[in-house]
Amino acid sequence: MFEARGLKKSYGALAVVRGVSLSVAAGERHGIIGPNGAGKTTFFNLLSGEAAADAGEVCMDGINLGKSPPDARARAGLGRSFQHNSLFAGLTVAENLAIAIAQRKKLYKIFWRGFLSRTEVFAEALDRAHRLGLGAQAHTRAAHLSHGAMRQLEIGLTLALRPKVLLLDEPTSGMSPEETAAIKNLIRRLPEELALLVIEHDMDVIFDLASHITVLDYGEVLMRGAPAEVRASPAVRARYLGMG
Ligand SMILES: Nc1ncnc2c1ncn2[C@@H]1O[C@H](COP(=O)(O)OP(=O)(O)OP(=O)(O)O)[C@@H](O)[C@H]1O
Ligand SMILES: [Mg+2]
Repeated sequence: MFEARGLKKSYGALAVVRGVSLSVAAGERHGIIGPNGAGKTTFFNLLSGEAAADAGEVCMDGINLGKSPPDARARAGLGRSFQHNSLFAGLTVAENLAIAIAQRKKLYKIFWRGFLSRTEVFAEALDRAHRLGLGAQAHTRAAHLSHGAMRQLEIGLTLALRPKVLLLDEPTSGMSPEETAAIKNLIRRLPEELALLVIEHDMDVIFDLASHITVLDYGEVLMRGAPAEVRASPAVRARYLGMG
């Protein structure tokens, strides 16, 4: 459904992503792990169009996304959650969601006060707030949310656009155990057909959620397999899990 072939990226003399391929089926929960500096975030940037690949291609439903920019990729169904730059701090959780829903419904020509009064948009916003685990905070301004709740809302805004593929880069970093649990719950309850690609340093989170794991090392795929295979691999244990 979603496929990357032979992606490469260098910054100056530094080859950061050195020919990485990955194909993801609908409904797959794919974890990406690897040491710091392995090229994980850069790989996501190549998928989302945030960075231009030196070589390789990215396809969605068999269509080559070419050099299309991030917004065009988002319209093709590629969702990426960004931290702390996508929220309207002065608006409530439900209002933030309503804006994303209106964007999906292409109601953006209507001034936002106008579409907030559209009951079908607001009803979906409230429903989404509940499903994100933010029902009790639906009418709280985004600026007043905890760090973890902001992260939940950011993922929720991306989901409101109904992506086919969701990219999450370290969704639990800097979170308390309670916040981590809330994010894990949210990920568990993602739409079944959605394909998830998640970079995560928290091995408990990865081994709990992922159906497939890719290990990146020095910009290359060191290993790919089911969580149990990856956990048992001597190469992965030596290089990454520090259990050599
Ligand atoms: N825009 C850039 N310009 C120059 N070098 C970059 C750029 N982006 C990333 N790099 C370098 O590429 C390498 C890989 O970085 P990247 O952020 O992709 O790693 P990562 O696997 O996500 O690491 P971490 O686990 O620490 O997040 C690093 O050496 C980094 O310094
Ligand atoms: Mg990174």
